[in-house]
Amino acid sequence: MHLVRWVFAGLLAVGSSELCCAGPLHAQCKVEWYFGIPCQEVYESLVSQIKKWRTMSGCSLGGQRCLYKLLSASVHFIAAKHTTPFKRYVDDISFRLVSYHFFTCCHVSAMSISETWYAITDHGTNYCNLYNLMEGSGLTESRGYKEVTSDFVCTQRSTANCTVY
Ligand SMILES: *[C@@H]1O[C@H](CO)[C@@H](O)[C@H](O)[C@H]1NC(C)=O
Repeated sequence: MHLVRWVFAGLLAVGSSELCCAGPLHAQCKVEWYFGIPCQEVYESLVSQIKKWRTMSGCSLGGQRCLYKLLSASVHFIAAKHTTPFKRYVDDISFRLVSYHFFTCCHVSAMSISETWYAITDHGTNYCNLYNLMEGSGLTESRGYKEVTSDFVCTQRSTANCTVY
């Protein structure tokens, strides 16, 4: 009886600590970005960066800035895939762009999710899939740049090192 109770308590503890601290139950990342520039500019920067990093060459010195594939692109929605250079894991990424303040500003809801169904941790790869495009295209330096996310909605965000992952 006591043993059963302990096992049960243990399961509860493990379950709740995962729910509380480990972030999403599947490796994925959701980020909200805000820009003080029109969505048209954000759109063009992201699409050209995805195209630039199509081949393996961006990763010859390490990192993950390569093997992006554009699936579809309109000024409201961009869909792409990213493949990790060595293990060949595939992540689906998307950007939804919404103008505000009479088209002078842009709100981007970005999502990256691992296709591998059992992936729970990712060293922040899903975050870096998105962030590397923002950083590489110079959008992180643009007017009014602001990022909103957290470990709750973005796997291992706080420990991500996008130079590596
Ligand atoms: C990220 O990794 C690179 C390469 O290993 C290292 O040089 C750098 O210091 C790391 N950055 C952080 C913030 O840990």
